[in-house]
Amino acid sequence: MSISQVSELEGMKKVSSVVSTTLKKMREYVCPGMSTLELDDYGASLLNRMGAKSAPKLTYNFPGWTCISVNEEIAHGVPSGNKILQEGDLVNIDVSAELDGFWSDNGGSFVLGRDLYHHQPLVEVSKKILFNAIRQIKGGVKISETGRLIEFQTKRAGFRVIKNLTGHGIGRSLHEEPGEIACYYDRYNLTRFRKNSVVAIETFIATQSTMAVTQKDGWTLKGQHGGFVAQHEHTIVITDDEPIILTLENEIWN
Ligand code: CO
Ligand code: CO
Repeated sequence: MSISQVSELEGMKKVSSVVSTTLKKMREYVCPGMSTLELDDYGASLLNRMGAKSAPKLTYNFPGWTCISVNEEIAHGVPSGNKILQEGDLVNIDVSAELDGFWSDNGGSFVLGRDLYHHQPLVEVSKKILFNAIRQIKGGVKISETGRLIEFQTKRAGFRVIKNLTGHGIGRSLHEEPGEIACYYDRYNLTRFRKNSVVAIETFIATQSTMAVTQKDGWTLKGQHGGFVAQHEHTIVITDDEPIILTLENEIWN
């Protein structure tokens, strides 16, 4: 969406505060031995209490309130009572929701407890690259330049990017124009970021794979060559200067 009224900015701030505090609290709540269903139930109770509805549930009838992806799962992990989180797991929580007709999206990967399997460097690279990517976005910048930055910095760090998962426009629905804010340099994408528009910027940084493939459950995504992926995501408003980061309260950069 493009923001043209103060009330629209207020609406976006409100729903963004809901999704970002929900993500933050879920990260504080999770511990080894907990099922992903238990963690999702907690997220659902937070969203409910603040009057928000799960965006993936509303949009795709996703079987959960939030997406919780563990280890080899890249995204759209379905919360399950049988999936018990263990110390050292690479966990991604993605929370998106609707409130009063406004939609916001945010997510982050982290290591649960001690870093037994050495996932932290991957997580740090994803965090840092999201930060660097967002900092260079302003009205008039080509979307492909953001992809170029993400791809370049990822390769320099010794990792790969997932090519078929992207950031996106957001605001009046979960996915809007521009439809694909890729993590690689797409020279055919001539679209530029526009001042006052709202977008979700996401990194998908991988150890081995470059493509995400849907699994038999019809939801969960894994890499075509396996390995691990870290994702970090903020919803932002584009300005003439540095963007307004609407989901900063999630503290994924801390
Ligand atoms: Co998301
Ligand atoms: Co998103």
